[in-house]
Amino acid sequence: MVEKESEVSRTYQEQVEECVRFIAPRLTAEPSWGIILGTGQGVWEARLEGGGGLAYQELPHFPPATSPSHAGRLGWGQMAGQEVMLCQGRFHAYEGYSLRQVTFPVRVMASLGVKTLIVTNAAGGLNPLFKAGDLMLICDHINLMGDNPLTGENIDAWGPRFPDLSQVYDRRLREKTEAVARRLGIGLRQGVYVAVKGPSLETPAETRFLRQIGADAVGMSTVPEVIAAVHAGLRVLGISVLSNLNLPDAMAPIAIEAIIDTVARAEPQLVELLLGVMQEVS
Ligand code: HPA
Repeated sequence: MVEKESEVSRTYQEQVEECVRFIAPRLTAEPSWGIILGTGQGVWEARLEGGGGLAYQELPHFPPATSPSHAGRLGWGQMAGQEVMLCQGRFHAYEGYSLRQVTFPVRVMASLGVKTLIVTNAAGGLNPLFKAGDLMLICDHINLMGDNPLTGENIDAWGPRFPDLSQVYDRRLREKTEAVARRLGIGLRQGVYVAVKGPSLETPAETRFLRQIGADAVGMSTVPEVIAAVHAGLRVLGISVLSNLNLPDAMAPIAIEAIIDTVARAEPQLVELLLGVMQEVS
């Protein structure tokens, strides 16, 4: 029997609420910042002070993380003077998850009090001026996943049916991030992130197409979480680590190991930058 849409939405909402009821009593303070980390980003939990954490498989209804180099752990505590909740490891459409599952952590964090979401990812650079290892502040995005986390009956308690996406990536946070990068001497690119479903990487023809439609970087994540975050009324800051550069006329094979390695090398700067931003923004 096909479940009615309203029942699917109600079940999803109940699952989020059950997870929230499980986590809330374990917290020492209400988190106001949420962070979702991407591929190859592992040193973050060491920066959390005075909190705790649980593996995703211990959390009710949390999907398990299956991607390489995604820890699968929810942590919380203080970081840069803020109360933070940290998702180490995210869910991707290419793993077979629905975009509602992909955005489950965003719903949980928003319900627990998070007001600002930082999302990071590894992405392929499309802008020929970029190079592997660069950091890119996401100014805007293009959703080419062929899906949207808000399809199905709207959960009115969480947000509007037709959320506005005219200013997704918070201007004040972007300006602050630029200023902190300048002060710390960290090179920071800016650009448009396009999300594809994956898991196959792009052909030269697809790469040319993505560049021509206005994208500076391509990846397989982030956009679903950002759409759910905007729906929930959160401020959003997004940063890509450019793990490789894709030039349609000189495409080179990409190995996932090389992607993870490049991201790991860029991570200290990413950590420094985001800690600086959190310290300076209330
Ligand atoms: N394409 C898509 N996703 C990616 C890439 C890429 O080149 N690099 C890292 N994630």
